[in-house]
Amino acid sequence: MFLKGKRALITGGTSGLGKAIALVFAKQGASVAIMGTNAQRAEETAKLIEQQRASSEQAVWFQTADVSKKADVNGAVEKLLTEWGSIDILVNCAGITRDKLFMKMGEEDWDAVMDTNLKSVYNLCHAFVRPMMKARRGKIINIASVIGLTGNPGQVNYSASKLGMVGFTRSLAKELGPRNICVNCIAPGFFKTPMTDALNEEQKQATLSRIPMGRLGNPEEIGFAAAFLASDMSDYITGQVLTVDGGMIA
Ligand SMILES: NC(=O)c1ccc[n+]([C@@H]2O[C@H](COP(=O)([O-])OP(=O)(O)OC[C@H]3O[C@@H](n4cnc5c(N)ncnc54)[C@H](OP(=O)(O)O)[C@@H]3O)[C@@H](O)[C@H]2O)c1
Repeated sequence: MFLKGKRALITGGTSGLGKAIALVFAKQGASVAIMGTNAQRAEETAKLIEQQRASSEQAVWFQTADVSKKADVNGAVEKLLTEWGSIDILVNCAGITRDKLFMKMGEEDWDAVMDTNLKSVYNLCHAFVRPMMKARRGKIINIASVIGLTGNPGQVNYSASKLGMVGFTRSLAKELGPRNICVNCIAPGFFKTPMTDALNEEQKQATLSRIPMGRLGNPEEIGFAAAFLASDMSDYITGQVLTVDGGMIA
């Protein structure tokens, strides 16, 4: 098992890619904490993680919190740290889209996406950086998107938030390298989750036609990439963007 004895928090661990990451981590021996805004979904996912974890000694923890709100995040993190003492792995996966052409993009659409996708990364990293520095180890994995690297019509806000995560990751990696803390991004291509289910058939076919491997990604495949970046096998990798996209932007 790659993650035996490790403790991980995954924001957005209640759905889609975050849930897949949480399940892979649990199967690889980690204690897993998840965070989302929907209490019922969080509880159901926590039960699933409990069923699939490698051993009953691994803790499973969930808490509702809005990651875009610093006070909410601080409250939840304080609770987690009181119970667990510290964590080894932080995965920032919570995210939303508010797609529309820029001409029609209101300030609310901009703020909601920037706050949920980017400010959340500040909120979570800021809450955990001190304990990780003290422990002189840690893994931070930020889930960006190929859209941040390529751009996409109708996604100015989303693309900006995701490329913002890349700059954040590279800078923080340079600050925290001396403390033995790795900070990396995963940039997923197109995966089947509730977020992409919202696209219409025409949009799905157009995206599919740009994937050399000819299929959508399976969320578990992001879980495997995250498990590698969370494990000791990647201890000399930091400040990187790992694209997992079936060759989409090769
Ligand atoms: N699916 C893809 O193809 C794809 C591609 C590239 C990148 N991504 C990125 O991968 C991440 C996960 O996407 P997904 O496809 O798995 O979407 P999803 O199924 O819609 O899941 C989004 C998750 O984020 C959580 N979340 C949203 N707003 C939140 C908030 N304010 N506070 C706390 N949690 C919040 C949701 O929890 P609640 O519903 O409980 O709030 C949910 O767990 C996102 O960052 C997305 O940008 C996805």
